[in-house]
Amino acid sequence: MKRIVSYVVLAVVSLATLQAGSKPTTLRQALKNDFYIGTALNRGQYLGTDEKAFNLVPKQFSAIVAENCMKSEKLQPREGEFFFDDADKFVAYGQKHKMWITGHTLIWHSQTPRWFFVDSEGKEVSKEVLVERMKKHIHTVVGRYKGKIKGWDVVNEAIEDNGEWRKSKFYKIIGPEFIKLAFQFAHEADPKAELYYNDYSMALEGRRNGVVNMVKDLQSQGVKIHGIGMQGHVGMDYPTIQDFEKSIVTFAGLGVKVMITELDLSALPTPQGNRGANVSDVAAYNEKINPFKNGIPAEAEAAWEKRYMDFFKLFLKHKDKVTRVTLWGVSDKGSWKNNFPVRGRTDYPLLFDRDYNAKKIVQLIIDEASK
Ligand code: G3I
Repeated sequence: MKRIVSYVVLAVVSLATLQAGSKPTTLRQALKNDFYIGTALNRGQYLGTDEKAFNLVPKQFSAIVAENCMKSEKLQPREGEFFFDDADKFVAYGQKHKMWITGHTLIWHSQTPRWFFVDSEGKEVSKEVLVERMKKHIHTVVGRYKGKIKGWDVVNEAIEDNGEWRKSKFYKIIGPEFIKLAFQFAHEADPKAELYYNDYSMALEGRRNGVVNMVKDLQSQGVKIHGIGMQGHVGMDYPTIQDFEKSIVTFAGLGVKVMITELDLSALPTPQGNRGANVSDVAAYNEKINPFKNGIPAEAEAAWEKRYMDFFKLFLKHKDKVTRVTLWGVSDKGSWKNNFPVRGRTDYPLLFDRDYNAKKIVQLIIDEASK
């Protein structure tokens, strides 16, 4: 009798272990049949000096993007002098852990070194010279990571809220065809890489329409564009889920993949007029708009969780269109939101706390994906 009881106990324990083993415990496991779940990484996180992140990221995430080390000012600080040390290590880390690697970003009005646009006397270069510089930069960078980096943010933030072209140096010197050229150069350098257009505030009607017109125009000229990245720098009061959904559906209707590329949900009040991610749009500090510097109260955290879940439910609803959801950072400690749009605040926009503990939201997402 004793033996039978032991067998039964053993069988029950084994079954429970088996069931527990099959239940996803990480974001990467839980979302593996839905979309890539990614994160942006800063230097210490892929080099390993930030040990906690270095170990946590491959468990929780299936995709990575470099927060800064692949921007042109880092990769080619002086003409013809390329610096690949950090980017090489970032790519090796992603390959080692079988993560989808996105290159960010080839052509952007911001973080482009000054030399790109001027000659040796400091005078603005001609269209021909700038096109040649773009070509060399894109061919060198995309060529180096051919077959390793599977997708590129080719052009970043070229359209304004109202749908007009951003009047960047690229636009002013070359005209809107700089976009087509950038995509063509990237395709030449790695014909198998996916190529994306990436922008913020994509739920705004003006920007949505501007992006749609641009993509249609590229497609009509036979230019390869595989996806649209919707940066998700969102707040508690913007944008509406409905507007965000409308953009997902509209962009997917163009026959391209949709990616949520830079997701972070600020828990802090939004200063008037600062709803985008334009790095120069900063507002002055005051104590009232930094209410949680000693910790986030339970009520505020619950509202933040609910809002995050509204977004994740939306992404899961459209998992046939959304191929990747990438957080813009791992932990609240390193988030750019602590300094944007107001410097020196304490924000809580990401899924892991300042000590890399998973917040409750992680389990909520796992549960939602496992339903
Ligand atoms: O690395 C230097 C460091 O050596 C120096 O001591 C320090 C002093 O300011 O600056 C450090 O560089 C900063 C870098 O982040 C790394 O922390 C730059 O000043 C700062 O401008 C840079 O900000 C980045 C910003 O893009 C501009 O490139 C943010 O980390 C990054 O999160 C942000 O990311 C952008 C996306 O690429 C595009 N979409 C919007 C998004 C948010 O602005």
